[in-house]
Amino acid sequence: MTKMKMQTPSLCSGEGSIRRFYAPYDAIRLPTVARAEGVYMWDTAGRRYIDASSGPVVSNIGHGNRRVIEAMYEQAKKVTYAHRTVFENEPNILLGDLVTRLAGPGLERAYFVSGGSEATETAIKLARQYAVVRGDAARWKVISLDPGYHGATLGAFAISGDPQTQTVFGALARAMPKAPAPFRYRLPPNHDSDSYARYCAAALEELIVREGPQTVLAFMMEPVGGLATGALVAHDEYYRTVREICSRHGVLLIYDEVMSGAGRTGAFLAAHHWPNARPDLVTLAKGIGAGYTPLGVVLAPSAMVDTVVGAGGFLHSYTYAANPLSCAIGLAVVSELIDQNLMANAGAMGSRMRQRLEELQATSGIIGDIRGNGLLMAIEIVANKETKEMLPAERQAVYRIVELGIERGLLLYSRRTANGKFGEWLMISPPLTVTDEEVDEIARLIGETLAAYEKELAS
Ligand SMILES: Cc1ncc(COP(=O)(O)O)c(C=O)c1O
Repeated sequence: MTKMKMQTPSLCSGEGSIRRFYAPYDAIRLPTVARAEGVYMWDTAGRRYIDASSGPVVSNIGHGNRRVIEAMYEQAKKVTYAHRTVFENEPNILLGDLVTRLAGPGLERAYFVSGGSEATETAIKLARQYAVVRGDAARWKVISLDPGYHGATLGAFAISGDPQTQTVFGALARAMPKAPAPFRYRLPPNHDSDSYARYCAAALEELIVREGPQTVLAFMMEPVGGLATGALVAHDEYYRTVREICSRHGVLLIYDEVMSGAGRTGAFLAAHHWPNARPDLVTLAKGIGAGYTPLGVVLAPSAMVDTVVGAGGFLHSYTYAANPLSCAIGLAVVSELIDQNLMANAGAMGSRMRQRLEELQATSGIIGDIRGNGLLMAIEIVANKETKEMLPAERQAVYRIVELGIERGLLLYSRRTANGKFGEWLMISPPLTVTDEEVDEIARLIGETLAAYEKELAS
């Protein structure tokens, strides 16, 4: 057999690169990544960058973790693939036990998939089959927040509130009802954050009643927001009230913890911050594989799963569900999270980061708001701090700030979600391994980057 020769990147045209789907030919070339270690990444020219966002809030335990790489290799030597219809696999059993134990009572079952969108789809289908089996087949609507994000596949897209993508892809999916997100910074006239939280909870209940409670299957929300809301943490009352509303109407409460879960907010689940508002189902993804493998999971109560199993089993599967290699990697990732005490570090470093960002805000003209929980944080960028006026859309501010960051060796994550309708923000979410010195370095570089942007605005 003739061996295919791998071309070195410099000899390749790049025509097959994913970048060709997003940027025109004349766009500025992004650096090419060469390697990564801890919170740092290097490009092929040898330049170092600090990862202030863990990519899209993925690399929870930092880059290049030896234990995870070794676990990956050890499992790969034994078996990388075995289908669930003919084998159980040990990494699946061990990881399932570990994450359900960390999640706590009421979430005893774990269904592993390959990412966040798959987890969303799986949670909705499990909820739906449970309703059908219980003779509640009229329930199918899944309410979510506007804005909100639950994934890119068509089912997940149908419950993601984003007017821009709705215009393009709406015809392909059955749009689901949306309730207003309980923002706390940019509020409608005559509201403060308390009254707006109450208004949003009441709007959810009105929506359920209007749709017909007997038709509503579930309400899905991110307990701490991701990119769609810029790390929105709702008023405490909102969580409790939403739980009560869902229980009153027989609606399942699903927490999308794809971004907020796996320790990022300082607790294994963000749900743990609101013990009086426990969800019925939880999805996790990004941090559970931490960038070492595509992995997601749906956590569900045993009563729900056993009911579905009693009626013949879950009518849903993926080729890579509970894949042994991914589960072995996930097991090493979550073990690192525990053994390195990274959840406590997320809490402590989150406080330090907030303090540093508040110091920057005092002198910056464009940091309007700082929000989040633990190391899931965001800064909202405005034209005027006093009036909260947004920057003109044509500025495409957050994209330019990301570019200015890259020039200074700072990696940030942002997108103008909902075409900037609700504001513009940048995620500040470094790996949970980040140290005092690294937090200070990130804050210094954010300061320099925003100062450079303010200078551009002024000229
Ligand atoms: C809250 C939330 N849910 C779901 C998803 C979808 O996850 P994935 O991109 O892994 O499919 C994301 C991804 O950003 C997310 O942030």
